[in-house]
Amino acid sequence: MATKSLTPEQFQKLLLSWQHQHGRHDLPWQQTPSPYRVLVSEVMLQQTQVMTVIPYFERWMASFPTIEALANATEDKVMNHWQGLGYYSRARNLRKAAIYIHETWGNEFPSDLKTLQEIPGVGRYTAGAIASFAFNTFGPIVDGNVKRLFCRYFGIEGVPGTSAVDKQLWNTAETYTPIINNRQFAQGLLDMGATLCKPKAPDCHACPFTTTCNAYQTNRVSELPTPKPKKVIPTKSGHFLWIESCGKLLLEKRADDGIWGALWCFPQIDIEPEKMDDLVKLQGSFKHTFSHYKLDGNVWFIDKLGEDNPQQQWIPFNSLDDFGMPKPIRTFIEKHLSNV
Ligand code: ADE
Repeated sequence: MATKSLTPEQFQKLLLSWQHQHGRHDLPWQQTPSPYRVLVSEVMLQQTQVMTVIPYFERWMASFPTIEALANATEDKVMNHWQGLGYYSRARNLRKAAIYIHETWGNEFPSDLKTLQEIPGVGRYTAGAIASFAFNTFGPIVDGNVKRLFCRYFGIEGVPGTSAVDKQLWNTAETYTPIINNRQFAQGLLDMGATLCKPKAPDCHACPFTTTCNAYQTNRVSELPTPKPKKVIPTKSGHFLWIESCGKLLLEKRADDGIWGALWCFPQIDIEPEKMDDLVKLQGSFKHTFSHYKLDGNVWFIDKLGEDNPQQQWIPFNSLDDFGMPKPIRTFIEKHLSNV
């Protein structure tokens, strides 16, 4: 027999009471949750754990305390604050969002869900989060935590992320999101997903929802959500050039699109190293895993590069900190410079 779920009102009441007692109340973005602070924190939290995000969030707010400060910052300075967080398009989009809000609305955020999604990089989830956390109004949110919790609680089968399942999850969120206490409700969903209804070894004994949880009642907690079919990610080689002269390193600002967009990196070449002449010798290597492939990076030592490239700049070793770089590149440079 199918498990009978709580009604939206019953679900909200139970979640709010759990949140009040057991949820998180002192995360930095919960203090004075302005729309700007919520936007920045939510974008940072999209692919990154809370504990990693906290110091980045604090540094970001110290440097760019307002939408206006961010809109007026250079792309380099913005990228520099993101280095190490990965998925750099998030930083470029945040800057674009600030410029858009500054120019279009004179730094004022709209509060309705539809207009919020006009902001570059703001989709349905982030719009819902801003409505809930900043304005404390109706704002359904479905992220990875909520998907897991809903799949288990409502016994939703199928792989989250596929359109039919996501549609069901968003419909559920629309139905179960209250019209009052939205800030606490949204935090409750996220906290419950992160601290009790975890991917592995969920803490069902501490969960107040077990008597009506479909997965718990049908003994399928470990089967839901339905796992994604495993995909094998390919490995690619990348060839980079280490060119130094008089205490300076030649670096190149990468194009906005593609990997490490708008970050400073060694010049990258397409040709196979076997085809390069004898002047070239391998300097070292690094590895990095992206979401869709693994990179084996080879760094080649060469004396100089033929033609000038306006994206390239000689950067003194002691100024390297001022330039936003991908983490493996910075680590490689630091390691190499400490060895010479
Ligand atoms: N994950 C995404 N948004 C969050 C938030 N506001 N608090 C904690 N974890 C989150």
